Amino acid sequence: MKIRKVDHQDSNEIYKWRNNIKSREMSLNSRIITIKEHNKWFKDSVKNNNREILIGEIDDSKIGVCRFEFNKELNISEVSININPVFRSRGYGKELLKNSIEYYLNKKNCILKAQIKLDNIVSKKLFLSIGFYIVNEKKNVIEMEFKKKLKFKKVEKSDALLLYELLKKRVHNISHQYLPDFETHKNFVDSNPYLHWYKYYLFDKVIGTFYIKSDNSIGIYLDITEENIVSEILDFIFTNFSPQEPIPSIVPNHFFINISETNQNLKNIIESLGYIKFQVSYKPKN
Ligand SMILES: CC(C)(COP(=O)(O)OP(=O)(O)OC[C@H]1O[C@@H](n2cnc3c(N)ncnc32)[C@H](O)[C@@H]1OP(=O)(O)O)[C@@H](O)C(=O)NCCC(=O)NCCS
Repeated sequence: MKIRKVDHQDSNEIYKWRNNIKSREMSLNSRIITIKEHNKWFKDSVKNNNREILIGEIDDSKIGVCRFEFNKELNISEVSININPVFRSRGYGKELLKNSIEYYLNKKNCILKAQIKLDNIVSKKLFLSIGFYIVNEKKNVIEMEFKKKLKFKKVEKSDALLLYELLKKRVHNISHQYLPDFETHKNFVDSNPYLHWYKYYLFDKVIGTFYIKSDNSIGIYLDITEENIVSEILDFIFTNFSPQEPIPSIVPNHFFINISETNQNLKNIIESLGYIKFQVSYKPKN
């Protein structure tokens, strides 16, 4: 399914879907919307930086819309979804919601909220299935919340190609200056020189890796350098692993995180998370 921002050509379909009887029943505002109201709202929406309406398409069919209303002070976006009535109950709701959230959160780092009518069983099931959880139930509305959550899995030999694709995209390097050929890279993955080596997923996509070496050093590589993601990776490491026994002058009694000097963004995040810079490394010029 392709996700894109709506434009004026989508306005009429969105209007029809919005006034569909089921959509109205399940909306917090159930009255019929006039075309005049809709046109004004749609025109304002396209210009409004705090409102993002995304549409999902398969081939030439418009499947449905997902709307995000951003509250800057609270750093929360409220999300709602409406599927084209002819495409309901075919699994598209799940696909559209998941893909739209991925698209949206790649650009905005915020908490998502949804308000769902208590009797909207399908929608409740849908939001729960993609990782929202219930935070409140008041009168006839359930409030749900979603925060980015990573899934961690050990790196395996079969990941060589996937890791090579990540390596190709990597901008900041520590130990190598040039991209190795695939064969060299594959031998490296096969030999797995690290004490622990993990990949992590956001939704179903691998966005990076981290390793821990026996000298207690940690290396983190990620596609999306955002504070909540880095914080989650470090929480995972510090909760699940303990440093190796110290060896004087060789292994310190604590973990330490190695970051490329050029990766200013990651350095800022690590420092803002409360980690202390305790050494700097230099190499010869050539
Ligand atoms: C709610 C809505 C977005 C769901 O999208 P959808 O494409 O119809 O739903 P999906 O096919 O993706 O199914 C989502 C889940 O509900 C289940 N489901 C779908 N239709 C169902 C039905 N008629 N009865 C019971 N369960 C149903 C699916 O099995 C799936 O659950 P699963 O993951 O356990 O298999 C869509 O029906 C819609 O636009 N409704 C009107 C507007 C609305 O209610 N918006 C939500 C307000 S935020």
